[in-house]
Amino acid sequence: MTATSAPADLNALEAELIGEIDRAENLGAIEQVRIGALGKKGRVSELMSQLGKLAPEDRKAFGAAVNQLKTTVTNALESRKSVLEEAALSARLANERADVTLPVRLGPQAEGRIHPVSQVWDEVTEIFADMGFAVAEGPDIETDDLNFTKLNIPPEHPARQEHDTFYLSPRADGSRMVLRTHTSPVQIRTMLSQRPPIRIIAPGRVYRSDSDQTHTPMFHQIEGLVIDEETHLGHLKWCLEEFCKAFFEVDEVKMRFRASHFPFTEPSMEVDVDAAAIGKPGRWLEILGSGMVHPNVIRACGLDPEKYQGFAFGMGLDRITMLKYGIPDLRDMFSADMRWLRHFGFLPFDVPTLAGGVSS
Ligand code: PHE
Repeated sequence: MTATSAPADLNALEAELIGEIDRAENLGAIEQVRIGALGKKGRVSELMSQLGKLAPEDRKAFGAAVNQLKTTVTNALESRKSVLEEAALSARLANERADVTLPVRLGPQAEGRIHPVSQVWDEVTEIFADMGFAVAEGPDIETDDLNFTKLNIPPEHPARQEHDTFYLSPRADGSRMVLRTHTSPVQIRTMLSQRPPIRIIAPGRVYRSDSDQTHTPMFHQIEGLVIDEETHLGHLKWCLEEFCKAFFEVDEVKMRFRASHFPFTEPSMEVDVDAAAIGKPGRWLEILGSGMVHPNVIRACGLDPEKYQGFAFGMGLDRITMLKYGIPDLRDMFSADMRWLRHFGFLPFDVPTLAGGVSS
């Protein structure tokens, strides 16, 4: 190339490159044109390296002309590229359609399972929530005072032995925390922190040092507590009957209230359900302990037992889970065996609702 022929060559090159750019049909082709023109060995770049061979007086004009060419080509590439990008996007949008009427394809959710006890925990909560009960909670590690003393079980009371308590190491003041042996301390916590009328349930884990076919060191209970000025035994019976019908999803349940004894209720009753509710008539199944809250307990919470009374119950969640869903062995429930969970577990989308028939 000579200095005199340069401008003409640049015009020809420009026309040629613009032509290539206009004819590029896709982003790949446009990239090829760019490399061919502006890449390290591209035709425009090569021109710059020829600058040194020119006579000094020609260099300035030629350099400016090449730069001009470079700008023109760059702009043409950019605008063609954005046209092609937009076309590519439109093509994709036209092609990739989502049919929103198709059923949901379960991903990882289809793999996971909700443990039957968690499911029943939600079912029971749903049923009592519908009757106007709020959910209350307490810690698994509880004070001796709340787990026993305020529940009318003073130190040295024989009922303490029956509970096979797990004690924690004594603290500096000699007192010992316990793993709560029942959910009843939540009764106390609630009465100490709320004014009547009180209507709560408290599902949770409880612990007893006991392990055989029908006992595990950790298990689940759900506590119920109602306190106001005129609650009586009839309310307790109605409430539990309504619960059992809703839970076992039957129109009628036969229930048996057996006189029993708990230090924190008077009178106390254990409640059995006729196994007809689970298709095995003629057998009684014990499902809970209950009674009218003992005046000593109401007094220990700073309330006047002359004015306030109510009922309480404590139900074994694992027990009613096994009954409802035909689970044969209690210990399997806590063995963390995936095969067991896959068989007895629930899909995460199976959220219990009363409207949906609780267990759906
Ligand atoms: N806390 C008792 C138990 O664990 C059950 C119960 C609760 C009984 C409330 C009466 C009232 O056995």
